[in-house]
Amino acid sequence: MTGKEFQPILLFALVTLTVLSGCEKGKTGVHSDFNITRKDINSVTDKLPQDIRSNIIKNPQCFLEYMERILNEPVDYTVLVDKKHALSSSYVPPGLVNIRKYRLQTTKKYLEIRRIVIPDLTAMAEAARLQGVELVIGSSYRSYAYQKRLYSYYVSTEGKKKADRESARPGHSQHQLGTTMDFSPIDDNFIKTRGGEWLDKYAWKYGFSLSYPPDSESITGYKYEPWHYRYVGRDVSFIIERYFDGKQQLFLEFYDKTKEFFKKSLRK
Ligand code: DAL
Ligand code: ZN
Repeated sequence: MTGKEFQPILLFALVTLTVLSGCEKGKTGVHSDFNITRKDINSVTDKLPQDIRSNIIKNPQCFLEYMERILNEPVDYTVLVDKKHALSSSYVPPGLVNIRKYRLQTTKKYLEIRRIVIPDLTAMAEAARLQGVELVIGSSYRSYAYQKRLYSYYVSTEGKKKADRESARPGHSQHQLGTTMDFSPIDDNFIKTRGGEWLDKYAWKYGFSLSYPPDSESITGYKYEPWHYRYVGRDVSFIIERYFDGKQQLFLEFYDKTKEFFKKSLRK
């Protein structure tokens, strides 16, 4: 094949790749749906760790494409619930259902989760099953009152310092959101099980994000919990995986600080 014959093929491949990646480059600015310049991207990311920042700066089109989807999402999957941000003691999530009603394995007869999690959770469990891996859920929605009893139990058996590295105080647990679950066995060795390995590789593809990754205690305040996943929807989990090095906490904090700026910059 001559160079001339090769050129249209190369062009076709490039166009196809751009369309398939779903990341549109704006005619003006960085993305045509946002009134945002490269300078804005630089300044809005300037507090992020260098590696994460450069992921975004290198490919802002795709980043903004996903940000747009998240900003338009009817359900807010990004609520911060951490050591500094609490849910009210009266908060009960809407649409709780018993997980056992679906084709999902649990260690208890009655474990609840928000209905909106079910489609991706069953899709994920089915995909794992097809590869010979059975995912089992050991804990999911926890009320404020239940978390209070659980935290007190840890404090009485282990002392406050150790308890605070492993258990959230009442109001501060992602389990109260109804979108978070612990896979079984809830154990430090979970990552060495087939379920743990499978989730570590593929959970993000189904919208699930590991909340307390290894070597992240200074960011999350908690020890590594290989079993604890929060459902954040596929767009958020893509951004966390692709741009934020799997650090859910860093993305949720970033989004919390910048969402109003991004919302205002969206062209109508
Ligand atoms: N183990 C996590 C931090 C919780 O209690 O929600
Ligand atoms: Zn958990």
